[in-house]
Amino acid sequence: MKKPKILVTRKWPEKVETKLSESYDVTFNNNDIALNTNDFCEALKKYDAILPTVTDKMPKKIFEVANIRTQILGNYGVGYAHIDISTAKSLGITVTNTPDVLSDCTADITLTLMLMAARRAGEGEREVRASKWEGWRPTHLVGTKLTGKTLGIIGFGRIGQEVAKRAHHGFGMKILVQNRSSIDPSILSQTNAVQINKIDDLLPDIDFLSLHCPGGEENRDLIGSAELQLMKKEAILINTARGEVVNDPALIYALKNNIINAAGLDVYNEEPNLNKEYLDCPNAILLPHLGSATNETREAMGFRVIKNLNEFFSGKVPEDKVS
Ligand code: DGY
Repeated sequence: MKKPKILVTRKWPEKVETKLSESYDVTFNNNDIALNTNDFCEALKKYDAILPTVTDKMPKKIFEVANIRTQILGNYGVGYAHIDISTAKSLGITVTNTPDVLSDCTADITLTLMLMAARRAGEGEREVRASKWEGWRPTHLVGTKLTGKTLGIIGFGRIGQEVAKRAHHGFGMKILVQNRSSIDPSILSQTNAVQINKIDDLLPDIDFLSLHCPGGEENRDLIGSAELQLMKKEAILINTARGEVVNDPALIYALKNNIINAAGLDVYNEEPNLNKEYLDCPNAILLPHLGSATNETREAMGFRVIKNLNEFFSGKVPEDKVS
């Protein structure tokens, strides 16, 4: 039997690429340059499976081609708001993602950002590198503690829960959560978390806000100027979810006008072309979408895609089918 034809849209960890090529007829992207709209339209006609990432925008118009051959989009990543799921579904194309395997690392980067923003680590590092450090003094780059503070989490799925564990058991933080559906009390009790129904009721009570809800249109601008105004002046906002969840002009204004204290961002609207005004905010910690960027996790994500493909091509419903 002929091996299914697979397109990998970006460079993947070597071990995963090797494993993938054992079972499939694979086209790799050795230059690691993102595909354009035309490349995708052509790929849909040529490959049985396409394995995209967050950098591959797949809106409705990409699917408007005749003779689509692709049966499955095996997304390398947990978030899939870059794919027009309802169009894929209407064409009978299965979409899978890679949950679970990146929860630890994304939670770790969240805590990294919380600590960096609270302790002004970005400002300090820039000062040392610019040879501008004048030595220790009691009032130099004074930040704020995590220990004992209150953390608000919007979206209490796997990643949100891992953040809560680290913050509660590591830093004694009090956890308040807001989530679309109600969370099982046994999950809340693991971190003594309290679920609050409305975001507006959570915002005034927290010292840190961390976003872990899905991206896409449903959550676009979830945090805008009205929400930022409800937060304490000392509060710190962390976004490791998706750029569109935060309204950039509103956050930039809040950072420049002491509406909130600081922000830690790993994701942006229009990545990698983030709003340049963030660069003028010394109280913004800016990371380049590193949430899942460890060897262990990037390999695990790839092996999870392979598992989904194997299930699909052996006639089973893949465990991580999202549509
Ligand atoms: C994810 O898995 O959603 C990461 O943000 C990379 O896409």
